[in-house]
Amino acid sequence: MDNAKELRETIAAIVAPGKGILAADESTPTITKRFQAVGIESSAESRRAYRTLLSTAPGAEKYLAGVILFEETLGQADNSGTPLPRVLAERGIVPGIKVDKGTTPIAATDGDLITQGLDGLAERLASYKSQGARFTKWREVYGITERNPTPLGISANAEVLARYAAICQAQGLVPIVEPEVLIDGDHTLERCHEVSEAVLHAVFDALHRHRVLLEGMILKPNMVLPGKANPRKAAPEEVAQATLEVLRRTVPAAVPTINFLSGGQGPEEATANLNAMNAMDRRAPWVLSFSFARALQDPVMHAWKGDARSVAPAQELFVHRLRMNSLARDGQWSAASERER
Ligand code: 13P
Repeated sequence: MDNAKELRETIAAIVAPGKGILAADESTPTITKRFQAVGIESSAESRRAYRTLLSTAPGAEKYLAGVILFEETLGQADNSGTPLPRVLAERGIVPGIKVDKGTTPIAATDGDLITQGLDGLAERLASYKSQGARFTKWREVYGITERNPTPLGISANAEVLARYAAICQAQGLVPIVEPEVLIDGDHTLERCHEVSEAVLHAVFDALHRHRVLLEGMILKPNMVLPGKANPRKAAPEEVAQATLEVLRRTVPAAVPTINFLSGGQGPEEATANLNAMNAMDRRAPWVLSFSFARALQDPVMHAWKGDARSVAPAQELFVHRLRMNSLARDGQWSAASERER
């Protein structure tokens, strides 16, 4: 592939020891919902201030390989007028960009969704690249019910993810391929295992058909968990065992890194589950790291609340969460680590 060298260089930065990815790419409606939940007004300026807080947190560069931005942020600047992608790049953090345009129902599937945004994607990518982006993200979602996801939903979503990944690689941008099996519902861990395995199997089949360079992509999957409304919770070792089993069955060893989404887990829960995987399988063929949004940002947003005087303590909480996940990425985290500030 023509762009293999460029893709491998970006991957080399992303898999740096001790590091992971921050997802700060909430669309405007989503960040508005998150802001409202903690009483912050959502405006272009408050979103700029918040994402500047994240992008400039002192010490974050030790743990952050990359940050996924939303299109609006790619064009925003820090308080001194430096574009945020440049602020990140100057700190050795690779800027990335969410490129999908959200979901719409698939007819005849009784509830499955599919993600839009392939039309004109190549042109948009050229512009994002000129603004400093080096990698991209696209998310497909799979809700679990007795009937969903359907075989049609699984194959249609896989096809779109693979089309997206191939288009990105042709532009020299590393694709994050994100098939998210949702936590909503009262399903069992076993049902999430079954659905996640079917989804990842279809995704890698499609990536192969579309000639996606596996060495030049990042997988961002869900962890295998019971549904949020299921009263039976799973211990980190159970989550780790089930997730690793699914990944070993479906993800080729050529994929360099798997960076999990947090998907509605609490901050410490996501850290504990990531840690259990790395503590359990030191011989996994892939890096097992993080690409969390909520599990990294929730404590930060609560501490900041839109108040300029709270920027420094909010940044400290952010770097603490990053450090915890950096330990988890190496299987070195424990509940006691949370108290070491
Ligand atoms: P969460 O970690 O909050 O699930 O978000 C990750 C993400 O990027 C969703 O697309």
